[in-house]
Amino acid sequence: MAGRVPQSFIDDLLARIDITDLIGQRITLKRAGKEYQSRCPFHDERSPSFTVSPSKQFYHCFGCGAHGTALGFLMQYDGLEFVDAIEVLADQLGMPVPELSTARDRGTSELYGLLAECSSYFQHQLGTSDKALEYLRGRGLGAEVIETYGLGYAPPGWDNVLRRFGQSSKGANLLSSAGMLSQGDRGRYDKFRDRLMFPIHDRRGRVIAFGGRVMGDDQPKYLNSPETEVFHKGETLYGLYQARQRKGGLERLIVVEGYMDVLALVHHGFSESVATLGTATTRSHAELLFRQAGDVVFCFDGDRAGREAAWRALESVLPRLTDGRQAQFLFLPDGEDPDSLLNAQGAAAFEAQLRGAVPLTEYFFQMLSKDARLDTVDGRARLVERAKPLIEQIPDSPFRDLMEEELGRRAGIRKTPVDKPAPARGGGRMRSDSRAGQRRVQRTPVRALISLLFTAPALATRVTQPAPFVGLEVAGMDLLLRLLDRLRASPAAAGAVIESWPEPAEADAMRKLAEVEWAGESEDWEVAFDGYVQLLVDQFESQKSADLPLQLDQISAEDRRRYLQQLARKAESGRHKIG
Ligand code: UTP
Ligand code: MN
Repeated sequence: MAGRVPQSFIDDLLARIDITDLIGQRITLKRAGKEYQSRCPFHDERSPSFTVSPSKQFYHCFGCGAHGTALGFLMQYDGLEFVDAIEVLADQLGMPVPELSTARDRGTSELYGLLAECSSYFQHQLGTSDKALEYLRGRGLGAEVIETYGLGYAPPGWDNVLRRFGQSSKGANLLSSAGMLSQGDRGRYDKFRDRLMFPIHDRRGRVIAFGGRVMGDDQPKYLNSPETEVFHKGETLYGLYQARQRKGGLERLIVVEGYMDVLALVHHGFSESVATLGTATTRSHAELLFRQAGDVVFCFDGDRAGREAAWRALESVLPRLTDGRQAQFLFLPDGEDPDSLLNAQGAAAFEAQLRGAVPLTEYFFQMLSKDARLDTVDGRARLVERAKPLIEQIPDSPFRDLMEEELGRRAGIRKTPVDKPAPARGGGRMRSDSRAGQRRVQRTPVRALISLLFTAPALATRVTQPAPFVGLEVAGMDLLLRLLDRLRASPAAAGAVIESWPEPAEADAMRKLAEVEWAGESEDWEVAFDGYVQLLVDQFESQKSADLPLQLDQISAEDRRRYLQQLARKAESGRHKIG
């Protein structure tokens, strides 16, 4: 989908929005020299290591490594997909997003509209149904939760929705595409009848599907919308939209299994609750969860099914476990769910349960050590065999190192002392360490030029075309040339260029260079820039003549002597020039 928004539009967008405004609307920024600082919204810390650079239009956290442009921030902070973040920015600036209004999108926007109307209809019906209201009261839910989560009621009858919204065949087809109808021998009829309705929202708050619960003992207890163009179960979390509306952001998310569990939790003050929709926790879920909060607690039934579900969740979470993220597992007593526990024992008891949740690491080794006798060599080998492929899925990070160490410890493998220094962790210290690290970046002309280009993108126009050093064989030349092309086409700020750079490894390298601070102002940078360009030109000239040594053994002794003399003379005159 991302590919459909032209890069020029994204550049334009990022050029018009100011990242400090955008971030400043969401967290409090303090000015610190040329940059702004704050405590990082993406990980827990006491001293501020989150910086926003107005000149480069990017943010960077020296603590957890979070970084990006205004777009990236919106995605990470508001939990939006790429295209959604673009739309939000474009909305704010009043710019229409090109190429998004294709036929398909017009179709989906009709679906959203229809689903919203269905939801209003159900909500209205709830107000007129004593039976449904009585049921909700009986389950302990108050008006506020009912309102916030848009609960409704689909009255009995085969064609309430169909008659209201599907008079024309186009309308009926749209209802089908929205997943609101069932197909029988004698045609289509309402899927949800005489059920309590739970609208499912996407992250922007649009209704995309429903869950419907019977109020008696009929089966199935819950009926859910099928997968549609706008509803993908594996990528949706019930209640996430509402949880994100919380003031002050989310530190923790509680993941439960059922609609009613979410609502009971919210009713008891745990508004940071979401549910998977009767499916296993997918990797998309894991990513979604961690985009909102660093701390995720999975709540499962204590029975076998619950334990299996927990292990599936753990597997989905591993590839998402970068530094600063942690997952915990809470197993409830057999036969209980959060809803029943809360109603029986109240919020304090549940909070106590939450505090007793098992950290992922512990659960991980506990499960893998099960029926592996660690007092035997075979048992320990088995543990390693099981754990290795799983640990390998964790992104390279201090956390992964710790998991490996822990595996080594449990399997009785004594590791040779690590020769690299222990990675620094936590707030302010990390920042200065990282700053020191930057200064250690070896400053070759190519690197200097790249970092200058990030300081002032318009410098790109100072290089004639083709660049006078095309053909010089030094590390990074290819990258430099492409960067010059990119900036000549449109002089975007560093953040935007790096974010849209097609090679991730190169983007990483560029990010480090973009952090280099150049003293002075634009005139000083121009001088430095021209100087480094000249250095490359000189280097190119000498490389051309120095190509000769390759053939040195093929030429006669006499020629060789003359060539060496020539080189010596060159070196001599070079020294004079410098001195
Ligand atoms: P549960 O059977 O645990 O129901 O299913 P619950 O959430 O405790 O519901 P109450 O308290 O009886 O009202 C957990 C989840 O599994 C899915 C639903 O998403 C439900 O919330 N489910 C369950 C279905 O999709 N269909 C069903 O028939 C049952
Ligand atoms: Mn229940």
